[in-house]
Amino acid sequence: MKILITGGAGYIGSHLVKQLLNTNHNITILDNLSTGNIETLNTIKQIRDFDFIELDLKEFKKVDKFLADNNFDMIFHFSASILVSESVKNPLKYYMNNTVNTTNLINCAIKNGVNKFVFSSTATLYGDVKNIPKDGLHEKLPTNPINPYGMSKLMSEQILQDTASAHSNFKFVIFRYFNVAGADINYIDGKLSPRIGQVVQNATHLIKVASEVALGIRDKMAIFGEDYDTLDGSGVRDYIHVDDLASAHIRAIDYLDDINNKSDIFNIGYGKGFSVREVIESMKRVTKVDFRVNIEGRRDGDPATLIADNSKIKEMMGWMPKYDDLDLICESAYKWEEGII
Ligand SMILES: NC(=O)c1ccc[n+]([C@@H]2O[C@H](COP(=O)([O-])OP(=O)(O)OC[C@H]3O[C@@H](n4cnc5c(N)ncnc54)[C@H](O)[C@@H]3O)[C@@H](O)[C@H]2O)c1
Repeated sequence: MKILITGGAGYIGSHLVKQLLNTNHNITILDNLSTGNIETLNTIKQIRDFDFIELDLKEFKKVDKFLADNNFDMIFHFSASILVSESVKNPLKYYMNNTVNTTNLINCAIKNGVNKFVFSSTATLYGDVKNIPKDGLHEKLPTNPINPYGMSKLMSEQILQDTASAHSNFKFVIFRYFNVAGADINYIDGKLSPRIGQVVQNATHLIKVASEVALGIRDKMAIFGEDYDTLDGSGVRDYIHVDDLASAHIRAIDYLDDINNKSDIFNIGYGKGFSVREVIESMKRVTKVDFRVNIEGRRDGDPATLIADNSKIKEMMGWMPKYDDLDLICESAYKWEEGII
C-alpha cells in the first residue's frame, strides 16, 4: 500500500514509520520540521529508505498537487500543534494548524481519491469527567474539551465524520491517545538502546521531564496539585508506550482495508492509571537517582484522573500491548535522553 504520513518526523509519527519500514508498504513522510527532527529521519532511514517531502500543510495548493501527483491509498495524519497551555494563549494557531489544515488535507484526500484516513486525536477532549466509569473512559462518553487544543481536535473529528457520511468510499479511524511516553524499544548486546525518542525543547510531558531531572538537565521538577481526589492526591493518568501506540496504527491498516469494517473512534491506552507520585518513584527506581521534587498548585484544566477503557480497540482490532510496564516506559525514556545529551 502507498502510505502518506504527515508529521512523521515527530515523536509519535516517527515510531510508526520505524514499524512501517519493516513491512512492504511504500512510505512517504510529509513534515514542515517545525517540531519534527531531521536527525530522527536520518536514523530511521538506516532501516530502509523512504520518501520525505518538507512541506507545510498550510500550503493548500502544494498539498493538493502533491496528492494529485502521488496515488496514495492511505494517510496517517499526525501533524499538529500539541501544547495545551500554548493553545490557551494562542488559540488561532491551534485552530489554523490543527483544524483548518486538517480540513484542507481531508478535502485534498477526497479530491484525489485517498479513501483511508487515520487521525491522531486525544483523550483531552473528554474534559474533566466527574463520575468516571469503573472500567475507565469509553468512546461513547460525551466530549467536553476544556482548552482550544482539545476543541481543535474535536472539530477535526466532526469534520471527518461528516465527510465519511457524505462520501461512502471514504473511511477513517480516529485514535484518542491517552498519555504517550517512552522511546524506541531496541536492544543492543542485551542493553536497552533507543534509536529514536521524543525531541522537544522545554518539554511538559511528565516522564520526559522526570528523565531530564534524573540526568541533571533540569535541577528539579514539580508535582502540580496534591489535593486531587485520588489515592495519593496527585493526578492519575494512563501512560502508554509509544511503540504500543504505533502498533495500533499498523492494525488500523488491516482494519480499514476490510470492507466489513466501518469508520470508527478508538481509545488507546492501557486501561490502568498511575499517579504523578508513582511515576516519579518509578523514574527514581530505574535510574537510582533521588532527584528534587517540589509541590505546586494545580494547573488550570488538569482533570484528576484520565484512564482509558480500551476494550473496543482490543476487541475490534485485536490490538494487545507489549510494553505495559511503567518501569520499562521510564527506563526507555531515560536511556533515550541519556543518549542524546
Ligand atoms: N504526545 C502525546 O502525548 C499526544 C497525546 C495525544 C495526542 N497526540 C497527537 O499525536 C500527534 C503527534 O504528536 P507528537 O507528540 O508526535 O508531536 P510532535 O510535535 O513531535 O509531532 C508533530 C509533527 O507534525 C509536524 N507539523 C506540525 N505542523 C505541521 C504543518 N503545518 N505541516 C507539516 N508538518 C507539521 C511537526 O514538525 C512534527 O514533526 C499530534 O496530532 C498530537 O495532537 C499526542
